[in-house]
Amino acid sequence: MTKPMGNTLTAIALAAVAFGTVATADESADLVINGDQEMTIRTAAPAHLSDVMDEINSGWLYRKDETQLLQMDDFDNPGMIFVDLAQDAWNAVDGSEDKSCASCHDNVEETMKGVRAVYPKWNETAGEVRTLAHQINDCRENQMGAEKWKYTGGKMTAMEALISVQSRGMPVDVAIDGPAQSTWEQGKEMYYSRTGQLELSCANCHEENYGNMIRADHLSQGQINGFPVYRLKNSKLNNAHARFKGCVRDTRAETYKPGSADFVALELYVASRGNGLSVEAPSVRN
Ligand code: HEC
Ligand code: HEC
Repeated sequence: MTKPMGNTLTAIALAAVAFGTVATADESADLVINGDQEMTIRTAAPAHLSDVMDEINSGWLYRKDETQLLQMDDFDNPGMIFVDLAQDAWNAVDGSEDKSCASCHDNVEETMKGVRAVYPKWNETAGEVRTLAHQINDCRENQMGAEKWKYTGGKMTAMEALISVQSRGMPVDVAIDGPAQSTWEQGKEMYYSRTGQLELSCANCHEENYGNMIRADHLSQGQINGFPVYRLKNSKLNNAHARFKGCVRDTRAETYKPGSADFVALELYVASRGNGLSVEAPSVRN
């Protein structure tokens, strides 16, 4: 969205909330990756959403045919290049302890299977909910004696993709009760709070208007089961916090920082709205 100037603001704000109903994508399509791996892209909403929706849908469903196609074959999926790069990083020694990820976690295909599906996750020792990115940086800093990676940077998103792809096809299953509950409540509060000059909440767009058009975009439910996501718009992998930042900015609000406790809470809540959808990473979006 372009920056508003002076008194054109009201007009732009009104235009921004004018949702249209012209949908172009094929909402009855199925997502099968490499011809044999079938993804759950529509399923019953988790119990905590039963008051507001019956069915949850992957964002893949709302994309144009040509974007959908790119995610159906790993040879066409530009996100897979970064998965290969991260495989090299997995094996590369770094930091003062002369260790690689593989030194402790061996074969990523075995040790990281199922991990993405349950993140963000409560970490008992640290006494906090951690995102996958936070856990990766914790290992870099405290296990390897290496520098932390930038939260939304290329090395981080690639490593997230490598770890996530090991859970592809498994249902998202983040825990929202027990010690994670207060963080989850905080994220829920954020999701329903109207922010910015446009006074829009995540729910205004992704719960009340999914399926509708907003400007040139077909609105999805804003799910994160496909993250990190390769975006054709910026030709790189983007993690959930980078996406949240963009959406908050679009409401013309001061955005939170990627990696902040606020965005961790929001990520836990948004992830839980997708409990039951397949982990799809790396997915492809416009
Ligand atoms: C010196 C050993 C060591 C190295 C090297 C190491 N880790 Fe870890 N990693 C651990 C330990 C120990 C845990 C469990 C920590 C905890 O639960 O607090 C862990 C946990 C994890 C988890 C969470 C798994 C789960 O089931 O929740 C991920 C993801 C992870 N590491 C990724 C990495 C990556 C990526 C690297 C390389 C950049 C790496 N680790 C390097 C020791 C290591
Ligand atoms: C003004 C409407 C609007 C608001 C408010 C908004 N978004 Fe979005 N969001 C969009 C549009 C448009 C897209 C791109 C099309 C799509 O995937 O829905 C998008 C995409 C996303 C995606 C990517 C989904 C995918 O499958 O790739 C996520 C995640 C997301 N939004 C989360 C949020 C969160 C969390 C909030 C609240 C902090 C929020 N959005 C607020 C309009 C909005």
